[in-house]
Amino acid sequence: SIDLSSLTKQTGLTALDYGFVNTASTKSKITYIDGEQGILRYRGYPIDQVATNLNFLQTAYLLIHGEVPTQNEYENFEDKIRMHTLLHEDLKDFFSGFPRRAHPMPVLSAGVSALSTYYEDSLDPNNAEQVETSTYRLLAKLPVMAAYAHKKSIGQARLYPDNSLSYVENFLRLTFGNKAEPYVQNPVVVNALERLLILHADHEQNASTSTVRLVGSTDANMFASVSAGINALFGPLHGGANEAVLTMLGEIQASGESVSKYVERVKNKEDGVRLMGFGHRVYKNYDPRARLVKDTADEVLAALGVNDPLLGIAKELEGIALEDDYFKERKLYPNVDFYTGVIYKAMGFPTRMFTVLFALGRLPGWIAHWREMNLDPQTKIGRPQQLYIGEQQRNLPGFN
Ligand code: ACO
Repeated sequence: SIDLSSLTKQTGLTALDYGFVNTASTKSKITYIDGEQGILRYRGYPIDQVATNLNFLQTAYLLIHGEVPTQNEYENFEDKIRMHTLLHEDLKDFFSGFPRRAHPMPVLSAGVSALSTYYEDSLDPNNAEQVETSTYRLLAKLPVMAAYAHKKSIGQARLYPDNSLSYVENFLRLTFGNKAEPYVQNPVVVNALERLLILHADHEQNASTSTVRLVGSTDANMFASVSAGINALFGPLHGGANEAVLTMLGEIQASGESVSKYVERVKNKEDGVRLMGFGHRVYKNYDPRARLVKDTADEVLAALGVNDPLLGIAKELEGIALEDDYFKERKLYPNVDFYTGVIYKAMGFPTRMFTVLFALGRLPGWIAHWREMNLDPQTKIGRPQQLYIGEQQRNLPGFN
């Protein structure tokens, strides 16, 4: 193996690597991906074992601390998070200040950034106790803020958290109010949301996680770093794909066009149309998360008695694409987002909340990476190189 940093120092060599597709920015022990074989593991455990045996907070603990919590460790972790669910009362005015129908993602990132003004006692990245406290605060407050951002966007009053409920039940109640009652009573819906959050909880050095690490490498506090990660996730190429899938399925339904005709248009690259929710930069095989999401879609729609033709269209699209040489040759398979939108829609989330749900799921991953980066003595402030291709020295008038 070549030590690139010493090579750079010795030879002045700089690699130009757009999108850092070939450059490792760090060593990490958190998540392993083999895109060719379709393998994803959290701390060594296969994703299907994690998603079907742990709940979301157990998964968060695993990602952050490296081991599945014992019963005692779990109870302590959950209690600490419960203790921090309330938001400072003044934050009420903060949520009121956004325009009517504000998109919940920027409201969420602004809210997380604002936490550093309310909780100055947990900002020091070099104080282990403060890092612990900001971990609990973020895990506790993000679902509350996400629900408040949603309430703001639909002009409804906010509720206080109910700490007798589980993490996911509480979020459902804060989001849907009384309408959440059947969900909280319905383990299929609660378990499905737990599972979807788990499946989004980490994916190693993706754009938002790399952003969290980069911001954190400046010794910025965890709130500031996670707020930056939420903004990175807001981009349609990262967190917004689940919304795009639902739009595509809706358009196919509305046009009355047959699914196979749509696939032909994709293959002919008409107007650059792509099969949304298909293909992945890393996975060149079936995304292991997509299988679990597909099963979850069937369970949730059956449990809620929803008969959504969009699920049928999605399945037909998948069936045709998997048999087609265009998709086989390019190794294009359904990714995690192909079926998530249909499930969120059945649960009653508006499309603008889909990326917020991704952020809720990804939070433990961001925290785990921030902490790993913060404890690694080899961490340096992130500072990519560039190849300058602009003007050489020239003079302003009068400087000849
Ligand atoms: N539908 C049709 N054709 C596709 C698709 C697709 N979804 N994805 C890739 N291709 C084709 C390309 O046109 C290209 O064909 P060509 O060789 O004839 O030119 C070939 O496959 C390779 O495509 P690239 O864009 O080079 O593949 P890359 O790995 O860079 O792209 C990406 C990955 C961006 C995810 C792409 O597959 C895509 O746009 N998918 C749809 C959007 C989507 O679902 N994004 C979510 C990703 S998962 C996540 O972020 C959580």
